[in-house]
Amino acid sequence: MLISDATISADELRQIAALHRTALPDSIFSLCGKAVLYRYYQFVSESPREALIWLTEEKQVLGAAVLSFAPEQLSKRFVRWAPVFVGIRLGSRAVLNPKLARKVLHLATNKAAPPSAVQGLPEIVQIFAAPHSQNRGIGTKMLNQAEQFLFQQQARQYCLKTQADDTNPANGFYLKRGFELVAEAAFGGRAYKYYLKALG
Ligand SMILES: CC(C)(COP(=O)(O)OP(=O)(O)OC[C@H]1O[C@@H](n2cnc3c(N)ncnc32)[C@H](O)[C@@H]1OP(=O)(O)O)[C@@H](O)C(=O)NCCC(=O)NCCS
Repeated sequence: MLISDATISADELRQIAALHRTALPDSIFSLCGKAVLYRYYQFVSESPREALIWLTEEKQVLGAAVLSFAPEQLSKRFVRWAPVFVGIRLGSRAVLNPKLARKVLHLATNKAAPPSAVQGLPEIVQIFAAPHSQNRGIGTKMLNQAEQFLFQQQARQYCLKTQADDTNPANGFYLKRGFELVAEAAFGGRAYKYYLKALG
């Protein structure tokens, strides 16, 4: 679903997919290529369990975020939504890219539940701002929109995770925006920090 009453154009979806690839180059969807990324954002924009947030200025997308009410099943639901399309692209890329193959294997075989502190909570599963627009308040505006929406939906807390690496500036950003570090755990073979924020 879309966070506001606005509609989203194919061009905006294309821009969001391109920004995702630039801002999050190591993500599994980036490694799958722009066609899969485009379909992912199309899926999110139509899914009743996800909300797509995006900001534009003069028709240019400055940032986007995905809020999920069922984050644990998100990848599987996406693959089921377009199984042939995703399967062919994922398979052909994974054969050529060992990093992608490892990520897919981890996702397919890892049955570990998320840390108990965040289980069952809505989660921001993607958030990114255009490189030239970072540190201009875009990320903060998108979190504010997500929080207003969550509050209207009766949610009183939500979570997100980011790479635990001390050089990852997103950790500082979330702490500054009122998130509390509640757990550290491996996900997809990498160390992550899990943050929670209470609303209202
Ligand atoms: C993380 C991200 C979404 C934040 O968006 P943004 O538009 O740059 O964020 P804002 O401009 O709203 O706010 C940045 C704030 O974080 C603070 N900040 C940035 N790096 C920081 C650090 N290392 N430590 C502490 N605070 C930091 C800034 O000082 C600023 O706070 P202020 O406005 O109070 O001065 C953006 O930087 C991004 O796209 N990064 C690349 C993709 C990514 O890592 N996404 C998150 C994956 S979980």
